[in-house]
Amino acid sequence: MISAWLWLLCFSVIQTFTAEAQPTESLHTEVPENYGGNFPFYILKLPLPLGKDEGQIVLSGDSGTAAENTFAVDPDSGFLVATRALDREEKAEYQLQVTLESEDGQVLWGPQLVTVHVKDENDQVPQFSQAIYRAQLSQGTRPGVPFLFLEASDGDAPGTTNSDLRFHILSQFPVQPLPDMFQLDPQLGALALSPDGSTTLDHALEEHYQLLVQVKDMGDQPSGHQAMATLEISIVENSWTPLEPVHLAENLRVAYPHSIAQVHWGGGDVHYQLESQPPGPFEVDAEGRIHVTMELDREAQAEYQLQVRAQNSRGEDYAEPLELQVVVMDENDNAPVCSPHDPTISIPELSPPGTEVARLSAEDLDAPGSPNSHIVYQLLSPEPEQGAENKAFEIDSTSGSVTLGTAPLHAGQNILLQVLAVDLAGSEGGLSSTCEVAVMITDINNHAPEFINSQIGPISLPEDVKPGSLVATLMATDADLEPAFRLMDFAIEEGDPTGIFDLSRESDSNHVQLRLRKNLSYEEAPDHKVVVVVRNVEELVGPGPGPAATATVTILVERVIPPLKLDQESYETSIPVSTPAGSLLLTIQPSDPMNRTLRFSLVNDSEGWLCIKEVSGEVYTAQSLQGAQPGDTYTVLVEAQDTDEPEMSTSTTIVVHFLKASPVPALILASGPSRHLCTPRQDYGVVVNGVSEDPGLANRNGPYSFALGPNPTVQRDWRLQPLNDSHAYLTLALHWVEPGEYTVPVVVHHDAQMWQLQVQVIVCRCNVEGQCMRKVGRMKGMPTKLSAVGVLLGTLAAIGFILILVFTHLALARKDLDQPADSVPLKTAVEGGQPTEEESEFSTKGSWKGEEEEQSI
Ligand SMILES: *[C@@H]1O[C@H](CO)[C@@H](O)[C@H](O)[C@H]1NC(C)=O
Ligand SMILES: *[C@@H]1O[C@H](CO)[C@@H](O)[C@H](O)[C@H]1NC(C)=O
Ligand SMILES: *[C@@H]1O[C@H](CO)[C@@H](O)[C@H](O)[C@H]1NC(C)=O
Ligand SMILES: *[C@@H]1O[C@H](CO)[C@@H](O)[C@H](O)[C@H]1NC(C)=O
Repeated sequence: MISAWLWLLCFSVIQTFTAEAQPTESLHTEVPENYGGNFPFYILKLPLPLGKDEGQIVLSGDSGTAAENTFAVDPDSGFLVATRALDREEKAEYQLQVTLESEDGQVLWGPQLVTVHVKDENDQVPQFSQAIYRAQLSQGTRPGVPFLFLEASDGDAPGTTNSDLRFHILSQFPVQPLPDMFQLDPQLGALALSPDGSTTLDHALEEHYQLLVQVKDMGDQPSGHQAMATLEISIVENSWTPLEPVHLAENLRVAYPHSIAQVHWGGGDVHYQLESQPPGPFEVDAEGRIHVTMELDREAQAEYQLQVRAQNSRGEDYAEPLELQVVVMDENDNAPVCSPHDPTISIPELSPPGTEVARLSAEDLDAPGSPNSHIVYQLLSPEPEQGAENKAFEIDSTSGSVTLGTAPLHAGQNILLQVLAVDLAGSEGGLSSTCEVAVMITDINNHAPEFINSQIGPISLPEDVKPGSLVATLMATDADLEPAFRLMDFAIEEGDPTGIFDLSRESDSNHVQLRLRKNLSYEEAPDHKVVVVVRNVEELVGPGPGPAATATVTILVERVIPPLKLDQESYETSIPVSTPAGSLLLTIQPSDPMNRTLRFSLVNDSEGWLCIKEVSGEVYTAQSLQGAQPGDTYTVLVEAQDTDEPEMSTSTTIVVHFLKASPVPALILASGPSRHLCTPRQDYGVVVNGVSEDPGLANRNGPYSFALGPNPTVQRDWRLQPLNDSHAYLTLALHWVEPGEYTVPVVVHHDAQMWQLQVQVIVCRCNVEGQCMRKVGRMKGMPTKLSAVGVLLGTLAAIGFILILVFTHLALARKDLDQPADSVPLKTAVEGGQPTEEESEFSTKGSWKGEEEEQSI
């Protein structure tokens, strides 16, 4: 109790305090509509301050008069009151303002805002927007798709059950073919065909339906106000029929939008929608006319699928959408376009006609398979030359295949093929493009290298040309272009079996040098025919190399005879002045490697002391060196001449130094026992022994050499032939030598020593056995001078007779024998240069001979 009392106290204190302050908060209150009790209706006690009597309470409202009449403040209680019943539908809310003012109009308290809400009462009846609704219903409308929306209104507060409306179909007439052909959405008032109604609706059967519909408030509660309306529904035929495809030319020049088709939904309240797949410039207007809004391009899109929908106001399809196919008709608005090609096509030269060079293909974006894209090809360039039968290129107008024609092409040619591609199959009005293909004719190795000069020479080369010398330079060419096909190799093919020549060449050059590799020899080959062949390094294509692939170099070897050379520059010898005739002094011979026969001769042997063997070059003393003084020098010029090449000659000198006559054994006169030889000459001689009895001379080494003494008569009459190392054989040189006793001087050389033998030979007349005849008997005493003369004369006569006989005999018997040596000495024997000597000899020996004739030895 105490606490309650305290709370009240506190509350009043606070109330007082706050009242004394300001009534800031707006007050809200509610008044029921259509209040049926007594008035004034106390609504709310205003929080007026204490001492309110001092002032005057003023009430004002948003709509002044209404407030004044409808509301008041009871000054005693301070309550806000309503003076009459309120109608929410008239005014649902009042805004009031209360102030306490002094007499002079000064505001003592307030203003206090008060909002008065009128609490709704279901005092309003729902109303249809129309008493009769009319609608057209097309057959084919899908069930559940509303075709009519009923509208009804209720004046009660919105959002309350008082205005929560429900629609119902009360009746359907006719009840054909089913009683519930329609369905009505209770809350929305949307009228649609029921599923059964949809299937059974038949325009031919029933053209009109009448529905009685009701609208009721208070939601689903059974109570509430209600209203009714009539629906007149006419059934119409389904005009939502499929559409034929539309063919539309591209680039069509007409006014846009251009109508292309029309759809029609027979029912009312229809909205058309159009979709294009793919999206395209199409639209549909409210009347169902389908338009294209701009030009079409077949190449961009050849076909569109349009869908047209008939919808109710809520965007629901009444029926399945209609399909419309729009086909864009082609126009020849695209020229053929050449497809890109390799930058350059390479074709080997000499490729056979018909070889495909390129296959041109142009693309035309116009409709495939139509003439607009039917391309044919024409070769524009290169044009066949005027009047030329052969074409370099041919083209297949359909396939665009370019092939080689029969006109030849050459390596290195660059050709730009220009091909016209025309659509409309080439007929007039077709669009065209020029396609270009660059063609290069590549080289093949079809040319063999050839020599510029295939016959070279004759070239004369001296025999002594040094190996390595250049003989000839051979140049070759190759008509191919490709450097690799111009590479060539050279080789000696024939004419040089012994490898005298070889080829030298700077790498990759087109010339080669024929050089000498070995010495030439005139004796071995006086000429050469060297065949050089040139070949490609790369394999040759086509026919083989021609005759110019070989070159023949003819070389003539010039003989070179080396100058004559003797084994010494000059010859010198020293000999004693007592050197006998026939002594070998020295031998002149050609220098070593020379294999030539020479002929030697003395040029200015003015003293006649020397003689030279023409062939062997041996120099002898020709006679005893009479007049030569020791210490003197004798120089003789010798000429040597080549036997085979007489123009080749040389000369040298022989210098002979004379020495004092060697004292011992200058000439040892060794006389051997005499021997016999018979005349005319027989086939035997006497053996001369060179071995001396002198012990000082005997024990020497080496062979003995023999020569006849220098006396010309001796040299003429006798012949000395070496027998072995120590003996010689002395025979008669003449056929006939006068019989007698001879002393033949023989010079013996042995080991730098020289001596003379006096060989005693008795020449006698031969008997029939070819042996000496010797007279047997004693020697008579000294003959008288007369008798001696007589004997001499007699003997001479006898000899003369015999000589004549012999001569005649010989002349007759040996007429056929060529023996002039025999006849000459005979003559000399008779008419010889030394008759006195002979005579004296003869005289001294005559007597002995006389005896001899009678003795046979
Ligand atoms: C070639 O001849 C020269 C002199 O002419 C000589 O010296 C050389 O040895 C010779 N060579 C051959 C291989 O015979
Ligand atoms: C020298 O030449 C002759 C013929 O002229 C020949 O028979 C001989 O064999 C040659 N001798 C040499 C060593 O060449
Ligand atoms: C021979 O000729 C040579 C060279 O001309 C000369 O030196 C020499 O004295 C001559 N001899 C005589 C005997 O005239
Ligand atoms: C040389 O010939 C002679 C005579 O026939 C003979 O007596 C001598 O023994 C020969 N000398 C030699 C070395 O054969």
